[in-house]
Amino acid sequence: MLSKADNELLTRVGPGTPMGNLMRQYWIPVLLSTELEPGGKPKRVRLLGESLIAYRAANGQAGLIGEFCPHRRVSLYFGRVEACGMRCAYHGWAFDLSGQCIDMPNEPPESNFKHKVRTTAYPCREQGGVIWTYMGPAAEPPPLPELEWTLLPPEHVFVSKRLQRCNYFQALEGGIDSSHINFLHAPLRRDDPEMIAELTKGGFGVGLAAQVSDTAPRFEVVDTDYGVLIGARRTLPDGRYYWRITQFLMPFYTMPPTELEDPMPQSHIWVPMDDEHVVNWMITWHPRRPLTKEELAAQVGGKGSHVVDYAPPTSAPYGDIIPANGPHNDYGMDWEAHRTRLFCGIPGFGMQDQAIQESAGPIVDRSLERLGTSDTAIIQVRRRLLNAAKALRDRGTPPPGQDPAAYAVRPASVILPPDVMWVEGAMDRLVVRPGRQLIYA
Ligand code: FES
Ligand SMILES: [Fe+2]
Repeated sequence: MLSKADNELLTRVGPGTPMGNLMRQYWIPVLLSTELEPGGKPKRVRLLGESLIAYRAANGQAGLIGEFCPHRRVSLYFGRVEACGMRCAYHGWAFDLSGQCIDMPNEPPESNFKHKVRTTAYPCREQGGVIWTYMGPAAEPPPLPELEWTLLPPEHVFVSKRLQRCNYFQALEGGIDSSHINFLHAPLRRDDPEMIAELTKGGFGVGLAAQVSDTAPRFEVVDTDYGVLIGARRTLPDGRYYWRITQFLMPFYTMPPTELEDPMPQSHIWVPMDDEHVVNWMITWHPRRPLTKEELAAQVGGKGSHVVDYAPPTSAPYGDIIPANGPHNDYGMDWEAHRTRLFCGIPGFGMQDQAIQESAGPIVDRSLERLGTSDTAIIQVRRRLLNAAKALRDRGTPPPGQDPAAYAVRPASVILPPDVMWVEGAMDRLVVRPGRQLIYA
């Protein structure tokens, strides 16, 4: 459990909050690059409690500007996208990509008022088919993290995103919670081969996990320079250990364990829109080859963790990535399958996760919870984030993850003899660049 004060600190991300200030030290994904055309239609977005307009200037550069015009506070969503900035549709004030007012056509030509007006704007960069922004205080943003999937050819990578109606952290907790796989995503009977084969098609490593009779893995956690490494250990019938290793990377990345053979890593990015909504980015990639048609079909077919079946789009922030299923229809629950075949009859791992994460309400009151040993990873990741936010607030300490190269890691699964330390035994699977060692914190 957490104190009410720590729960507030963990979950509140708006401007001026300690966790919001921590998040603003890192690059944040905004939209896919393909969502904005040069000089085309802008999009409303909301990040860390701030309402913003994303657009692509006619010169091709992506921009992110505070939604409300500093003149009389109307929305710039209806503004005119120009060569290297945005012009308000009300009285024609124009702003460059940095937010500086560069034209005030309704003021006398001799006025120098425009030089004194600046609005919120955040720098954007593009990598891995994603537009990233830096909302922090540094005059010169840090380099982008060297996440493996952002540096691969596009055919190796599949990215989806969806909106969830809950605080980012309770969603993130699902991403580091290896013990729920045996329940939420499992068949009702563990000896039902047909169901196990069906579920494994979803591509989320449930097959072996579900077949291993040990439903109560032992957890070990290790702090690294970029986050936390989480090992879930199950004992195989032959006495060896089956380790499923999850990554947490500051401040909002999780990577669930891969399969043992031909690993195809996945990652979530839990980007807070505000305290009660999160954009759940999901990425699947293959380090060495393009994803096959079959693999892509499994990703988008509704069984896996990607959800791309959306409700009719609106122009609200992320209003085009709201899943079609939701609280209004019990997330598509098949109550008959729930009764007879599946531990949870909601179709697809992704919606099972979303339903269960949202079911706790917009912000979980962690002062009421009862944590067990299977929650070791969750406790450690909370501690890591809380400590980083407090250290930044109280002493200005730069948070973990300053080295962009530290982000070149993967999750893994590995079978090891009992006497091998799991991080060392799995090292060559965990690092993207051969020979690199993880740095413990
Ligand atoms: S409100 Fe934007 S220019 Fe007047
Ligand atoms: Fe899950």
